[in-house]
Amino acid sequence: MSLLEVEKLTKNFGGLQAVANVSLKIQRREILGLIGPNGAGKTTLFNLLTGVYAPTEGFIVFDGQNITKSKPNQIANLGVGRTFQNIRLFNQLTVAENIEVALHQQNADLLSEIFRLPLFSQQQKIRQEKVAQLLEFFQLADYANLPANSLAYGLQRRLEIARALASAPKILFLDEPAAGMNPSETKELMDLILKIHDQYQIAIVLIEHDMKLVMNVCQRVCVLEYGRVIKNGTPYEVQNDPRVIAAYLGGDV
Ligand SMILES: Nc1ncnc2c1ncn2[C@@H]1O[C@H](COP(=O)(O)OP(=O)(O)O)[C@@H](O)[C@H]1O
Ligand SMILES: [Mg+2]
Repeated sequence: MSLLEVEKLTKNFGGLQAVANVSLKIQRREILGLIGPNGAGKTTLFNLLTGVYAPTEGFIVFDGQNITKSKPNQIANLGVGRTFQNIRLFNQLTVAENIEVALHQQNADLLSEIFRLPLFSQQQKIRQEKVAQLLEFFQLADYANLPANSLAYGLQRRLEIARALASAPKILFLDEPAAGMNPSETKELMDLILKIHDQYQIAIVLIEHDMKLVMNVCQRVCVLEYGRVIKNGTPYEVQNDPRVIAAYLGGDV
């Protein structure tokens, strides 16, 4: 069984079909690239898969459960992590606190936290260890006590991914993680995505315009145009598909 199955998914915004009849399967531990011109519906598809929008039609099954009508926090708790096209961090909190907050959001035991019961201090210790591990893995330990907004842009992007991984997802959706990065930051990000995949053994879906990154990192690539899947195949197949070249790649890949 696939980790994620999307069947004839459609999202209309008034008269506009942002996602149109998309069917897609994502396997466990797969790295899938999602590409297409601006406005093709990539972010909307992420928003449907993470419960931000309810689909107009179609259904979504994640890890054997129908999540078509589930709320974002329910979907997150099932093991779906994501980052956003525009960075969303708690700017005034430190780097470490940003990760800690993400851990708190997962399976929060509110009663014990309010009353500071022994369970709380135990959980708190485990959380601190997890934060330390993530800071180490993402090479952010040196910045742990700095406010998130004092970090360079590339590091903020990295912290966002660390946050998304804090809840131990089975699948991670990355929406244009290299946007605004310089070539050396992009190369570092490429290595980081592969390292995450290796270490955490999760599925990753990557929306990205940097074709080198997509083609080097992804095992399979899905191309959207006007909300529709126009091609789904290996990077080689996608790069050599005349329709994809005409629609998007412009022959320069
Ligand atoms: N909340 C919304 N309300 C109305 N239209 C939207 C909304 N979100 C996205 N759209 C429209 O849906 C289309 C797809 O957008 P989007 O999914 O952001 O594309 P992409 O991420 O591929 O650039 C665009 O035409 C966009 O303007
Ligand atoms: Mg987008």
